[in-house]
Amino acid sequence: MDQRDAVSPETLAAQALGETDRASGGLAPVINLSTNYEQQPDGSYPEDRVYTRADNPTSEHAERLLAALEGAGCACALFGSGMAAATAVFQSLLPGDHVLVSRVLYWGVRKWLAEFALSWGLDVEFTDTTDLAAVTAAIRPGRTRLLWAETPANPMWEITDLAALCGLAHQAGARVAVDNTVATPVLTRPFEHGADLVVHSATKYLNGHGDALAGAVLSARRDPFWERIRSWRRNAGAMPGPFDAWLLQRGMRTLFLRVRRASETAMAIAAHFDGHPALAAVLYPGLVSHPGHQIAARQMDGGFGGMLSIRLAGGAGHAQAVLREVRVFKRATSLGGVESLIEHRRATEGPSSPVPDDLLRLSIGIEAPGDLIADLERALAAAGTAGMEAGR
Ligand SMILES: Cc1ncc(COP(=O)(O)O)c(C=O)c1O
Repeated sequence: MDQRDAVSPETLAAQALGETDRASGGLAPVINLSTNYEQQPDGSYPEDRVYTRADNPTSEHAERLLAALEGAGCACALFGSGMAAATAVFQSLLPGDHVLVSRVLYWGVRKWLAEFALSWGLDVEFTDTTDLAAVTAAIRPGRTRLLWAETPANPMWEITDLAALCGLAHQAGARVAVDNTVATPVLTRPFEHGADLVVHSATKYLNGHGDALAGAVLSARRDPFWERIRSWRRNAGAMPGPFDAWLLQRGMRTLFLRVRRASETAMAIAAHFDGHPALAAVLYPGLVSHPGHQIAARQMDGGFGGMLSIRLAGGAGHAQAVLREVRVFKRATSLGGVESLIEHRRATEGPSSPVPDDLLRLSIGIEAPGDLIADLERALAAAGTAGMEAGR
């Protein structure tokens, strides 16, 4: 039976598409490490695979699973990292193409665009994709080829209205690519809102255990631009290793459970600390006070994600003091894993970072919610007024 026609994405994820290994009957997929495939005497290859830089069955299995979760009959290609996936999209554009990119977004993408897009000949412009009037003014019909949006966007968790953005882009003949790393297909399926391309750092929630580096690009259509992205992957050698692809499908089996749990806990933490006297702000799209809340409530399905940020009332020194005091949260970069992380983004991103220096980013895992709340309460109390004074 082809389960894809019959069951929900949640079941497909839990059973990793339910494809029993034909050779052994095993329910867990095998890892195919072979770099090359045997050619038949007539010159053909049994499954059209020649060399693993182009095609690998373990990657293809994870690709089929992720495509089933993002839906709309899309195509999927895995990459060696989220950055390899994102840059493949930009590098498949042509010199002179105008690109509009969210002003707030993962800093690695911004850094790459700042360092390399110019030499690639791209005309990159940053705009506020939460402000549709600003987007309308920035689009150059006939020259703008791509709009790039991340929602919720790192690390302020701004929300872009995907349906509205896609409407504006398509009127001008431009594509929309959405970095769906933070929402994951559990909470938002950008193709349902009109997106042309979806990009993931699969290192985050899709893998979910902090032990594999991978990325993905998905396309609503198998058109020439899609073929260019696939060709870039093959020719630039941007494939993930089979073991990472295998860990990815393994992680996706619990994706729905993990994302829902992280979202519920993030909501509880945001609600608990909203208005706390030691905090200047809690940034989380689930809070009604968040400027993107109404759109998020419409666009996100069953939760607002596991990412939030807090801004400390006492400024940078206060943020550093709280960071030193946590015991349950792990001080580390990255996001989307089973353990909760806390990070001073400004310090990670460096002096050119636009992130406020009083901000701590939290990636909520699947621990007992009460332990996380107690840890933050304790850290805020311990950092106390000393931290606030240091921050002034
Ligand atoms: C939203 C987002 N997109 C892309 C990336 C890049 O992914 P990777 O680290 O897998 O290259 C990250 C990494 O943190 C991210 O958070």
